[in-house]
Amino acid sequence: MILQSLVLNNFRNYQSVTVQFASGINHIFGKNGQGKTNLLESIFCLGLAKSFRSNIDSDLIKKSTAEYQILGEFISDINVKHKIGIAASRNKKEISVDRKKLQRYSELIGMIPVVLFNPEDHKITAGSPAERRRWLDIILSQSDHQYLKNLQVFKRILKQKNVLLESISKKETKRDQLFYWNNIFADSAAKIIKRRIEILQHINENISDYYKVISSSGSSVQVNYGSTTGLDELDNDTLETFINSVVDREIAQKTSIYGPHRDDVVFLLNDKEVRRYASRGEHKSVLLALKIIEFNYLNQKTNVRPILLLDDIYSELDEDRQRQLITHMCQLGQTFITTTNQPQIPTSENDKAFLISNGNILEYNFT
Ligand SMILES: Nc1ncnc2c1ncn2[C@@H]1O[C@H](COP(=O)(O)OP(=O)(O)OP(=O)(O)O)[C@@H](O)[C@H]1O
Ligand SMILES: [Mg+2]
Repeated sequence: MILQSLVLNNFRNYQSVTVQFASGINHIFGKNGQGKTNLLESIFCLGLAKSFRSNIDSDLIKKSTAEYQILGEFISDINVKHKIGIAASRNKKEISVDRKKLQRYSELIGMIPVVLFNPEDHKITAGSPAERRRWLDIILSQSDHQYLKNLQVFKRILKQKNVLLESISKKETKRDQLFYWNNIFADSAAKIIKRRIEILQHINENISDYYKVISSSGSSVQVNYGSTTGLDELDNDTLETFINSVVDREIAQKTSIYGPHRDDVVFLLNDKEVRRYASRGEHKSVLLALKIIEFNYLNQKTNVRPILLLDDIYSELDEDRQRQLITHMCQLGQTFITTTNQPQIPTSENDKAFLISNGNILEYNFT
C-alpha cells in the first residue's frame, strides 16, 4: 500500500497541510519539536484508528480548535485507490473508507497495515509484560480480524469475571457461579494464547537470521511465551481445570490473576533474558529484527505491503549500521523516516525529503 497524499487539518501542531508523498523513502527532517513524530502519528492513525502516543483522541486536536481531520489517499499494490478519512471532535469520532462511514473503528484495522518503529519501542524488550502483550496484540489484530474480535470478547468476559470475584469475596454472590465464567473464560483465553504462540513460533524461525543481518553477529535469539499458569499445554480444557483449581486465590485477590491478560513474552539472547542482560545496542538490534519479521508477517497474512514508519531510528546506531539498515528496510515498502539531520542525497527517484518547521511541511530539493 502506498500513501500518495495526506491532508491534515488541526491535527496536533498542524493547522492545514497537504502533502504528496513518494512511493519509496520519505525523509522527514527538522529540528526538535517541529512536528515530525506528529506526522507519523497521523499516518499510524489511518492504519490503526488510534494513536500510538495517546488513548485520548482530544489530545490530537490542535490546541484552541474544535476538531481534527486526517485524510489519506492510498493506492494499493494492485492499483486500486482508497480514501480514508478520520474526523474527531472532543466527543465524536468518525472514520470513513472510500466515503462510507464505518460502524466500528475496528473495521479499519488491517486495511492499511502499518509497522512503526519509534523510541518508545525499547519497552517491548525492556519494559513491563503489558508492553509486550500490546505489541503482540497489535500485530495479530492487524493480520487477523478474528483475533481482534476474540480479544474484544475476552476483555468483556474478563471484566465480568472480575466483577463476580469482587462480589464473591464480599459474600454477596455464591462461588458456584464462578465455574460457568471460568468455562467461557478458558475457552476465550485459549483462542488468544493459541494465536500468540503461533506467531512466536514464526518469529523464532526467523529472528536469529535477521539479528545477524542487523548486528553482524552470530548470536542466537529466541522468544518464548511466558504463561502465568506455568502449564505446558494451553488448550481450553487444561486451562479450565487449572483456573478452577485456583479459585480461592482469585477470590482472595478479587481479580483474575491467570490468563492471557497477565501473560508475558520472554526474549532470550544466547539463552539469557534480554530484559535483564542485554546492552542497549543489543536491545535495539533485537527490536529491528522483530520489526522486519513483523513487516513480512503482515505482508504475508494480509497480502498488502505495510507502510513503514521509522521514528528517530538512527539514534544509537553508528553510520555503518544506519546504512545497512536503510538499505535493508527501505527495500521493503513505502517508508517514512524522521531525522533531525538533513538527509543525504536520495539514491532513487522514488524518494523525497520534507523539511518540517513549526507545523509547516516543505518539500526539499536536493540539488
Ligand atoms: N494538540 C496539540 N496542539 C498543538 N500542538 C501540539 C499538540 N500536541 C502536540 N503539540 C506540539 O507539537 C510539537 C511537535 O511535536 P513532535 O513530537 O511531532 O516533534 P518532533 O519534530 O518529532 O520532535 P523531536 O525531534 O523532538 O522528536 C510539540 O512542540 C508539541 O507541543
Ligand atoms: Mg519526534
